[in-house]
Amino acid sequence: MTGGGAEVVVDHVSKSFEDGRIRALADVSFRLEPGDFVSLTGPSGGGKSTLLNLIGALDRPDAGSIAVGGELLERLANPSEYRAATVGFVFQFHHLIPTLNALENVQLPMMGRGPTRAQREAKAMELLEDCAIAHRAKASPNTLSGGERQRVAIARALANGPRLLLADEPTGALDSATGGQIIELLLSLRARRGMTILLVTNDEDVADLADRTLRIRDGRVEAAEPTRVAAPRSA
Ligand SMILES: Nc1ncnc2c1ncn2[C@@H]1O[C@H](COP(=O)(O)OP(=O)(O)O)[C@@H](O)[C@H]1O
Ligand SMILES: [Mg+2]
Repeated sequence: MTGGGAEVVVDHVSKSFEDGRIRALADVSFRLEPGDFVSLTGPSGGGKSTLLNLIGALDRPDAGSIAVGGELLERLANPSEYRAATVGFVFQFHHLIPTLNALENVQLPMMGRGPTRAQREAKAMELLEDCAIAHRAKASPNTLSGGERQRVAIARALANGPRLLLADEPTGALDSATGGQIIELLLSLRARRGMTILLVTNDEDVADLADRTLRIRDGRVEAAEPTRVAAPRSA
């Protein structure tokens, strides 16, 4: 039982660092439904990035389990395939390759996955169009504004058609008007593609644009939806 149709199920997840001296997540449970746009807020050091890293299978929980699209991450046959194709990541800083132009950056996640060079280029151009940045396809990242770079980073995150987008403070380095445009872009991509989005932000106005907000503090989720997310264990 991995969540009865839920897109993401986080079930009693704990994670510590430094031999248990740092408790980043303490018994966290929640679920996201397909197509949810949920914001995750809370103080710095509260465990937000740790949680995204676990859902993205960049790290493993010490206890508890996580399922995405009905698949338990600890049982993934091919975790790198999951990271490449099932989830898309967007970070505060864009992590674009400075020596490649926008179009080439968006093609990177498709390399070695089957599409020909021409197919990759066409797909990357389509994604840049979806993100309203196709007019800068040939631009090098360092000639783009912060908001433009984030559009390219979002296009790259979508390269392999992920069902889940994990965005860790994507507007954290942008002014509020530009940040608002990036959130509007995410909302329109969600509507067009039916993706589920989990967005970390410390901006209240940004958080309010989501369907609902989860707050995480000292490794615990507050003001969350129902905390029992898995089938009750037999007593
Ligand atoms: N790789 C790591 N090694 C040691 N401590 C870590 C590591 N990653 C996160 N932490 C610690 O875990 C806690 C939660 O961090 P993080 O998830 O980054 O919080 P947030 O994203 O909410 O600011 C913090 O105390 C942080 O210092
Ligand atoms: Mg963080």
